[in-house]
Amino acid sequence: MQFERRDFIKTLLALPVIGGITALFISPFVRYLKPSSGPLATAEVFKQPDKPAPVRIVKFDVADFPEPWSFKYFMFQEANREYTSVGEQIKTIPGAVVRTPSADGSPNFVVFSRVCPHLGCVFNFVPHEAEVAKGYNYTPNPGQKVFACPCHLSVYDPMQEDTKGRGKVVSGPAPRSPFKFNFELQANQIVISSLESGGIS
Ligand code: FES
Repeated sequence: MQFERRDFIKTLLALPVIGGITALFISPFVRYLKPSSGPLATAEVFKQPDKPAPVRIVKFDVADFPEPWSFKYFMFQEANREYTSVGEQIKTIPGAVVRTPSADGSPNFVVFSRVCPHLGCVFNFVPHEAEVAKGYNYTPNPGQKVFACPCHLSVYDPMQEDTKGRGKVVSGPAPRSPFKFNFELQANQIVISSLESGGIS
């Protein structure tokens, strides 16, 4: 009986050491699963994934787009949490707002990331059909306006959809439509607050 009690006390004393050694192994594993976790922050792996935060909301006046196919480019910055001495990484994503036609003439918009889903070049809105036909190996239908990538000539139609939404690939090697920005119309302003989840390109 005496012996068992001594064993029990020894085990009790060893528990912090066992716990420390376990933490030493678990912590790197947790940080492998979720790189933004702090040291020993095992519980963080069960939290919701970190979401990027906008560094600055981008706004345009609707009046800046007087007619269908008016467009403007912008740069959107978002902060991604990162477990480094800096604590975050700022990513800059080029975007484009395009006013699209509507049956009643009211302003409709699409807001695209300009990062090409093929290999990451920055593509342009090319509203001149002759320029697309000459430079991008694609002949638009009459009135069709497109985004086009100068690197490998992928062409995207902002009025057509694929399984990822608007911006269907109508020519070239891109595997999918580009990412879109989330935005709202507020008091005659277009307010762009985040990139749709899933990545940069
Ligand atoms: S990077 Fe745009 S088509 Fe290849």
